[in-house]
Amino acid sequence: MAVGIFDSGLGGLTVLDAVQKRMPDLPLLYYGDNAHTPYGTRVPDDIYNLTTAGVQALFDRGCDLVILACNTASAAALRRMQEGWVPEGKRVLGVFVPLIEALTERNWGDNSPPRQVAVNDVALFATPATVSSRAFQRELAFRAIGVDVEAQPCGGVVDAIEAGDMILAEALVRSHVEALKRRMPRPQAAILGCTHYPLVEDVFRDALGEDVAVYSQPNLVAASLDDYLQRRPEMLGSGKPGFLTTGDPKSVEAKATLFLRRKISFEGVE
Ligand code: DGL
Repeated sequence: MAVGIFDSGLGGLTVLDAVQKRMPDLPLLYYGDNAHTPYGTRVPDDIYNLTTAGVQALFDRGCDLVILACNTASAAALRRMQEGWVPEGKRVLGVFVPLIEALTERNWGDNSPPRQVAVNDVALFATPATVSSRAFQRELAFRAIGVDVEAQPCGGVVDAIEAGDMILAEALVRSHVEALKRRMPRPQAAILGCTHYPLVEDVFRDALGEDVAVYSQPNLVAASLDDYLQRRPEMLGSGKPGFLTTGDPKSVEAKATLFLRRKISFEGVE
């Protein structure tokens, strides 16, 4: 048995790591579409086709539940997948609802009407495709009123992380934070709306300053998955745990090992 975790590349490992820390005995099957990363500069149809191919590979290996540990896929493809593609008995969950529930201080499944919340000015950092989908703002509007969201498309950050160029990634993060602050000088909260960004979370925190509350996904998604599996333990499926990549397994595992600070072996898939 294994829960599937999908990402366009290495970013979903930040979610996998938090899930393993919270539930060390939970078997996980990871799929990184490193051959096609980044998704954040692609058009929605392209993101949908790549995401369904990756999730299908996880279903074919016995997973019944797949976490889209990718905001870009969650924003551009998840709703369309849930409306007409996910087969009976399978489930695909995205990553930004747990984040928005934390921001709006809601418990899981609280469907009460939108209300005023503690934060008014929120900075959103995400890929260009996530920003242009406006999916965060849409999900937020179901739960909160009066929140001003200023979104910064962080071009180049995912590419730099995937290439292992952390110096470039840091420089890009600082320039994106500066650009955002020119439009919203004093955000109360910042959302790291891409699962790659926890790998440079300290840079975001430093550039934003200590007055800004930073919301990062891995622990929030892990808590929400824990809650889900307690209610739906039958969704553990029959897959075997492991790490799959459409990219070059040696190069992907070298970077994954560096990021997670433990040895990880990837199997190559088409
Ligand atoms: N980790 C993905 C996300 O959360 C990165 C998308 C990309 O490949 O650009 O959005």
